[in-house]
Formats: sequence, C-alpha cells, structure tokens
Amino acid sequence: MACVIVVGTQWGDEGKGKIVDLLTERADAVVRYQGGNNAGHTVMFGDKTFILHLVPSGILRETTSILGNGVVVDLAELIKEIDELEQMAIAVESHLSISDRAQLVMPWHKTFDLMREERKGKKKIGTTGRGIGPAYEDKVGRSGIRIGDLLELEQFRTRLEEIVDEKNQLLEQCFGADVPAFSAEEIFKEFEVHLKKLKPYIRDTPLLVNQMIEEGKNILFEGAQGTFLDVDHGTYPFVTSSNTLAGGACAGVGIGPTRITDVLGIVKAYTTRVGSGPFPTELLDSYGELLQSEGHEFGATTGRPRRCGWFDALLVRQAVRLNGITSMAVMKLDVLDKFETLKIAVGYRSSNGEFRDNLPRSLENVTPVYEEMPGWQCSSEGITEYAQLPSEMLAYLERMSELVGAKVSIISTGPKREETIVLNPDQFWI
Ligand code: GDP
Ligand code: IMO
Ligand code: MG
Repeated sequence: MACVIVVGTQWGDEGKGKIVDLLTERADAVVRYQGGNNAGHTVMFGDKTFILHLVPSGILRETTSILGNGVVVDLAELIKEIDELEQMAIAVESHLSISDRAQLVMPWHKTFDLMREERKGKKKIGTTGRGIGPAYEDKVGRSGIRIGDLLELEQFRTRLEEIVDEKNQLLEQCFGADVPAFSAEEIFKEFEVHLKKLKPYIRDTPLLVNQMIEEGKNILFEGAQGTFLDVDHGTYPFVTSSNTLAGGACAGVGIGPTRITDVLGIVKAYTTRVGSGPFPTELLDSYGELLQSEGHEFGATTGRPRRCGWFDALLVRQAVRLNGITSMAVMKLDVLDKFETLKIAVGYRSSNGEFRDNLPRSLENVTPVYEEMPGWQCSSEGITEYAQLPSEMLAYLERMSELVGAKVSIISTGPKREETIVLNPDQFWI
C-alpha cells in the first residue's frame, strides 16, 4: 500500500500533471484534494496533448479518479471537460467519482472574482477568473452549496432563492448597475440539468478512499497550484484560496495523516509564476525571454505568459519543510540546454543589506544572492538514460538537492511520458 501526495513546490505549473500521469501506471486511484478549474495540468503521450482542469490526470489511464471534498467544482465546466474527454474515447463515467461534500462554484462567484479584480486595477491578484476565491469564502463563511445538496432538489431551490437574493443585493451595493441581477429560477433550471448528467458520479468519497486504503491499494493525491500559492504559507495576498500544501490532502479527501507514505515534490529546474506578486529571481531580460520561449511558458488555463526566473533554492527548501517532501521530481531540465551559465539563488539581501538564507515573511524588496554553475550547452531533450545526462546537469542536480535538503527521484527531460528518468523505481511502484 502506498499513499503518495504529489505537490507543487513553487508557484504552480511545475509539471504535476506529467508526473501524476506517469505514476498512475500502477496506481489504483488518483484523487484531487483542493483547488478547482483554476488548475491546468498538461499530459502528453503519443501525439496527444491533454489539459486537465478539474478531472484528475489519472483519468487518462482510465484509473479510478476522484474529486475530493476539498475541491470547488464549477459544474458546467466539469461537464464540458467530461464531454471533451469522452470525445477522445476516454471512459470517464465508469472511473470518475465526485465527493458529495465538494463545494459548488456558483455563477456569482465568477462575477465577484472578475469584478473585484477589475476594480483593483494595478493591485489585482491576477486570478484565473474562475470564481475560486469567492467560492472558498462562502465555504468558510458557511453559506456555500455542496454538490450533495442538489440531491434534495426542493430544499436546494429554497436555499438558492435565499442566497441569490442576498448575492443580488451585495452585487448591487458593490458594483451598482454594472452587473445584471441573477435569476434563481434560471440557475435552478440549469442546475437541474447538470444534476441529471452528474448524479451517477456523486459518492461518499471519504468512505471510498478509506476502503481502498484498507484494501492495501496504491493511491495518488494530485495537488493543484503550488506551495507559494497556499493561502497560509504563500506570498499572501497573491495566493489562491486553498491549502495547496501536502497537509491539505488529508482534510481535502477525508483521510488521516498516518495514511500518507510519501510526499513527492515537483520542482521546475528554474522558476515561473503567473499573475501578480513578488518573485525575487524574476528575469526581465533576454534570459527571462529565453526561458519563456524554450519552456513554452504560457498558462495552461488562461494562456497568459508566465513570468520566468532563476531557480530559487530558498523557496524550494521551504517547500521541502512545509510539505514534508520525501523526494523530488526535477522537471524541464532540457529548457536550460542553451544556457552558458546557470544561477541559483542561495540567499537574499534585504534593503538594509542584511543577508539571510531562509525565507522572510515578505518576498518584496529582497535581492537574491546567486551562486553560478556552468550550463551543459548540449541537447538533453528526451534523454531517458541516466548515464547519458551531461556531467554539468548532474552537478546542477546535486547542488539543488544539497541546497533544498531533498533527494532527486525523478528527472524530466521533455514533456512526454517517456521523456523521464525514474531513479530507484521501486519506491514509486512503477
Ligand atoms: P502543472 O500545472 O504542474 O501540471 O504543469 P503545467 O501542465 O501547467 O505546465 C507544465 C508544462 O511543462 C506543460 O506544458 C508540460 O507539457 C511541460 N513539461 C513538463 N515536463 C517537462 C519537461 O521535462 N520538459 C519540457 N520541455 N516540458 C515539460
Ligand atoms: P496548476 O495546478 C499557476 C494563480 C493565479 C493567481 C493566483 C490566484 O496548473 O499549477 P485563483 O484563480 O486561484 O484565485 O488565482 O493563483 N494560480 C495558478 N498559477 N498554476 C496554477 O495551477 C494556478 N492556479 C491559480 O494565476 O496568481
Ligand atoms: Mg498548470
């Protein structure tokens, strides 16, 4: 039995989807525990590319795939994603379960998200506009609607009428006539149709997962976003609204911490970030442009260009601690092929000149202190044999591992499934 959490160690888009897909080969289930369709997880195999937003990446191998209670679900978007997968001949219905306790992203959540961002102007968070923040606000404020609530349609109708009334008043107070009022009747009709389609998927997922664990099954927990987008430990307020850390998996699925056997940290060999917020090692020069073009760094959900910068060892060391990472998968090493010299941030200098090698509360106004290493300047794209990796890359990996305090267990040299080197495969049951 293994219960492995796959978690992003930076600001998301580290390559979680690729690794979850790889490890699913012999997993019995893949479970999402937080976030919603703000995520965009890319999986490539053969000549196909899939981008999953809500459905766990395990679905592509037709493995039991579960949306846990900690996820916020936009039903219309979920149905669209299921339809797209089915059109690509993936058997979704027989493999997907959705927690009856998962919260719904309602139409007003998206409106509040977009309108608030617009109002913030330059100070905006740069959200994905999917209504994630407002949906989690209502969850914690105890005024959300859970998928299971739809099963009692008449009670749902009454609740919806009350909530829509309150949301319309709030919208008018905040944004005046800019936003048309919502109609409870229209939303009810729409959700009645959604329910017809999704009813077969709704289950008591904590029971399902715990039974699988008792039967000794192998389960993967697919994190979304990344450590520094965590609502408590990230670069607040430029974060998402859930606990993205490995610790969030237990509450977001309904299992005890004693069940977890491994935490695999997904680490990009450099750093990227989408949206606003501090980013100490960001490169606003031709090196940044090279990382962006070589790494095709455009958001999988919104298509926005990702900000790019050098590898920041302070961030990943903190991620190793916060998540209890037992080993890491280092991704996108091939993107560094053309660099003559590589830089790693090993410390920060604050505005008063003070040096520190651990993360301050705020990442604003710090200047990274770099260590330089020679690049390999040859193509590493698609290498699958450890012995063929350039010696400079091995030195870079060794230094990363030393600085962040975690061993490397997977090396990724391209976006496709097979462009991967798994060191000591036994530990991941593949
Ligand atoms: P996720 O959100 O963590 O699943 O990551 P995304 O899918 O948003 O972004 C990662 C991007 O990098 C995707 O386009 C992947 O296809 C791609 N990718 C993953 N691993 C590698 C790799 O080792 N090399 C290259 N060149 N691309 C990779
Ligand atoms: P995956 O799972 C990268 C970022 C947004 C924004 C902030 C808040 O693909 O790694 P939100 O819509 O969640 O309220 O936006 O979080 N963000 C991501 N950045 N990868 C993601 O997911 C992200 N999900 C949200 O860009 O800065
Ligand atoms: Mg992504």
